Amino acid sequence: SELEKGGYPHFMLKEIFEQPRTLRDCIRGRVSADGKHVVLSGVLDNKERFLDAHRILIVACGTSWHAALIGKHLFEDMCRIPVEVEYASEFRYRNPVVSDKDVLIAMSQSGETADTLAALELAKEQGAFVFGICNVIGSSIPRATDSGCYIHVGPEIGVASTKAFTGQVTVLAMMALMLGRMKGTIADEAFERVTRDLHRLPELLQEVLELDTRVKDLSKIFTYAKNFLYLGRGYNYPAALEGALKLKEISYIHAEGCPAAEMKHGTIALIDDDMPTVVIAPRDKIYDKTVSNIQQIKARNGRIIALVTRGDEVAAKIADYVIEIPEVCECLSPILTSVPLQLLAYYVAVNKGRNVDQPRNLAKSVTVE
Ligand code: G6P
Repeated sequence: SELEKGGYPHFMLKEIFEQPRTLRDCIRGRVSADGKHVVLSGVLDNKERFLDAHRILIVACGTSWHAALIGKHLFEDMCRIPVEVEYASEFRYRNPVVSDKDVLIAMSQSGETADTLAALELAKEQGAFVFGICNVIGSSIPRATDSGCYIHVGPEIGVASTKAFTGQVTVLAMMALMLGRMKGTIADEAFERVTRDLHRLPELLQEVLELDTRVKDLSKIFTYAKNFLYLGRGYNYPAALEGALKLKEISYIHAEGCPAAEMKHGTIALIDDDMPTVVIAPRDKIYDKTVSNIQQIKARNGRIIALVTRGDEVAAKIADYVIEIPEVCECLSPILTSVPLQLLAYYVAVNKGRNVDQPRNLAKSVTVE
């Protein structure tokens, strides 16, 4: 109802704007302000299972699968555990190798996705320790797992997932920090730097949301594009996939997410002045490489919207349009970069008169195959 939308025209916009609060709820009681402690009881209570794990498998669908890809980076970076991320629908039908030395994480906003539930049941039968990261309390996946952790972002009504994605990545970051400390694979200095940034996420998100008018203006320029390309590298490659998915889901414009460097092996053939490219280029370890990718697009007359760290002068000069995000630890940057992309998809869809909260052919949760 109109009342439930809290004055916003759509649930999706309301949920995008809720993110400073939902992330505060997500980290409440779990992350200390001084950066010294991160505690998730579901992890603490099962410390041995996590420490014994030879591998972490994450199964998910849709937006949750994109969050899982960021989880792979986080766990491998901070905990030195090999991680495999799989579409639940592929995993469950391909006779996967699973053992009691595996921890399987089922990532699902609704906790009801049929393929994800089936994938976790299969892994459980083969002895894996199964852990859920879900939003809906008491849903099927949390009931079927050995343990888990809620993202606590409140009900998500818009079919296009927004606040659940940022909540999932936040929980994965908390888990990686905790496990990294338990295993001794993360230095105290790095642990505290990331944890302090985690604690600052609500205020950083608030700053990102001030980009609303800027993104709304940009959306007008790009509403009539037939195709969109989203590029990112490292931690922001999954953010590029998620940006493209948001646009596809609600505006019905074809969009493709691609690792920025992989573009030259095929996708670059599509670039011309008709196809806008969104490049996620925060100041990180591979920033210089991303800048050369931007130059490659420019050389082919592509139009570029670049998401850069505030104060950037290099990428910003080459790109046609710039969206500036606040500085944050590289591993948390997709939480910030994904938000302007949610807004971009939202405004393009509104400009096209689409049914933003209930896009055609899509369901909020896919409980049957
Ligand atoms: C559906 C929704 C997506 C969602 C996916 C996985 O396809 O439309 O937005 O990402 O299911 O849902 P889950 O609840 O398991 O995260």
